[in-house]
Amino acid sequence: MTTLLRIDASAQQQDRSLTRMLTNLFTTELLQANPDVKVITRDIGQDPVPAIDHRFIHAAFTPPDAREDWMTDRLALSDALIDEVAAADIIVMGAPMYNYGMPAALKGWIDHIARIGRTFSFDLARGDFPIEPILKGKQLVVLSSRGEFGFEPGGPRAHMNALDPAIAACAHYFGVDAANIHTVAIEYQEFKDERHERSVIAAKDATRALARRFGQARGTNDACVPAG
Ligand SMILES: Cc1cc2nc3c(=O)[nH]c(=O)nc-3n(C[C@H](O)[C@H](O)[C@H](O)COP(=O)(O)O)c2cc1C
Repeated sequence: MTTLLRIDASAQQQDRSLTRMLTNLFTTELLQANPDVKVITRDIGQDPVPAIDHRFIHAAFTPPDAREDWMTDRLALSDALIDEVAAADIIVMGAPMYNYGMPAALKGWIDHIARIGRTFSFDLARGDFPIEPILKGKQLVVLSSRGEFGFEPGGPRAHMNALDPAIAACAHYFGVDAANIHTVAIEYQEFKDERHERSVIAAKDATRALARRFGQARGTNDACVPAG
């Protein structure tokens, strides 16, 4: 059975959010293609996770068998969020661009997912690259929206895109290789012109196509459909 983890990070509610519209479309189409998909939803836009603090870091870097009760309690939400990621074959992430980067809610979620001993190991014997991911084999569908345009590689605002590179840099914590990140982005939202309308249509088409591809796959291994 395929499991989908749906994450929404927009601070806007369903009727005013383009990324929620896309995550909803992806989920609906995926279920249509494969009704057996199990869906886990995590709405960090409406229900943000608290920022990590010195107590969280102290707890996370204390070995499990040496943790005091307060440490276990402090990590409970992080453990639950990681369990959701670990259970997923596909992660669909509604990720609006806020101030050229990711919404604080999404960054807060990633701060809870990146955990030593759970999503990565750290060993200086590995030399200059001591971090090794623990989770593997997942697909990530990033459904974004931007008010401006031209953030793609080679575009006029590519140098201002602090969203897609940041998600890609952290994807190994979710068990996602670079080749398994599939990004669709609506642009021109602030212009509200024909370019925006065309962009919405193209993004919906691309989202449907991705959902159909993943819907035809079955189980963790089959979900690793080659990009293209
Ligand atoms: C707080 C905030 C910051 C934003 N910053 C940017 C930005 O830096 N660049 C950009 O192109 N659009 C920016 N936008 C526009 C959003 O990316 C756009 O409205 C998008 O559709 C938001 O996603 P949503 O519709 O799912 O809420 C910003 C919007 C908000 C609310």
